[in-house]
Amino acid sequence: MTSTRGPAGAVDNAAASTQADSSSRASASTVDGQDWLGLAGQRVLVAGAGGIGSACATAFADAGARVAAADISPDRLSELDDRITGLAADLTTPAGCDTAVDDAVNQLGGLDVLVHAVGTNHRVPVLEVDDGDWHRMVDVNLTSAFRLGRAAGRHMVDAGHGRQVFCSSVSSTLAHPDHAPYAATKGGLDQLLRVMAREWAPNGVTVNAIGPGYTDTVLTRAHLDKPGVRDHYTSLVPAGRLGTVNDLTGAVLFLASRQAAFITGQVLYVDGGRTLV
Ligand SMILES: NC(=O)c1ccc[n+]([C@@H]2O[C@H](COP(=O)([O-])OP(=O)(O)OC[C@H]3O[C@@H](n4cnc5c(N)ncnc54)[C@H](O)[C@@H]3O)[C@@H](O)[C@H]2O)c1
Repeated sequence: MTSTRGPAGAVDNAAASTQADSSSRASASTVDGQDWLGLAGQRVLVAGAGGIGSACATAFADAGARVAAADISPDRLSELDDRITGLAADLTTPAGCDTAVDDAVNQLGGLDVLVHAVGTNHRVPVLEVDDGDWHRMVDVNLTSAFRLGRAAGRHMVDAGHGRQVFCSSVSSTLAHPDHAPYAATKGGLDQLLRVMAREWAPNGVTVNAIGPGYTDTVLTRAHLDKPGVRDHYTSLVPAGRLGTVNDLTGAVLFLASRQAAFITGQVLYVDGGRTLV
């Protein structure tokens, strides 16, 4: 992929893309040729360009949206689809979050949608969690969501329109051993988004989350590849399989769309029934 680095640390992958590329791929959200989700031309910032974030960014581009994606990892940014503008940012810092939102607004000409797919995990029993681990997970998973949601919310409340979609987890409601800090951040995220949803509903801004079950990405792969772990997690899913990133993108696009205008403060579990067990 060819990228050009613009002002404020932006990596402009979109510059390498052609109009023809975009139009030939902009069909994923059309029904009988109609853009029923209404995402064409929407200005979307995806925070976190890992497994789930990059799949969402590509799906938005397929739907005709204009997309920027922010991540701390140069590798993740360099792997983005050519149609997506990459933004280098440490989203655990106040300046990183504010600058990512400002850069997206400047480069896209505004902001209609924020997707938050930043995350980390470190699986150890509570008695072995040290303070550094705790703070790192709170900073990456929860504080970045607050800061990005707040920064994007300022634009959206002013504009009288906006969609925010966060990545919660089945861990926000299930008590998985060895997941205490992660689960706490996801439980906190669920309550954060409910309050933002209530405060901004009068301004036409909706705030929701997807709640994925175990999905095979960089975040989970090392753990899933340990002996017996993949089979164990699979046995807990009524649908009989783990999720893929492509199981999640439809829910994210729907919650970001005009079709979800009256849905706010909700967590939509996309988990093959995991939370039913
Ligand atoms: N994969 C799963 O099974 C699963 C399940 C439930 C919820 N989730 C949630 O979905 C979201 C995305 O997870 P994923 O599976 O795509 O993980 P991933 O590891 O593939 O992606 C996470 C991304 O966050 C980025 N990131 C981490 N720290 C950062 C920082 N300080 N600044 C900027 N970027 C930073 C990483 O570079 C990475 O690209 C996370 O919030 C995760 O908790 C994932």
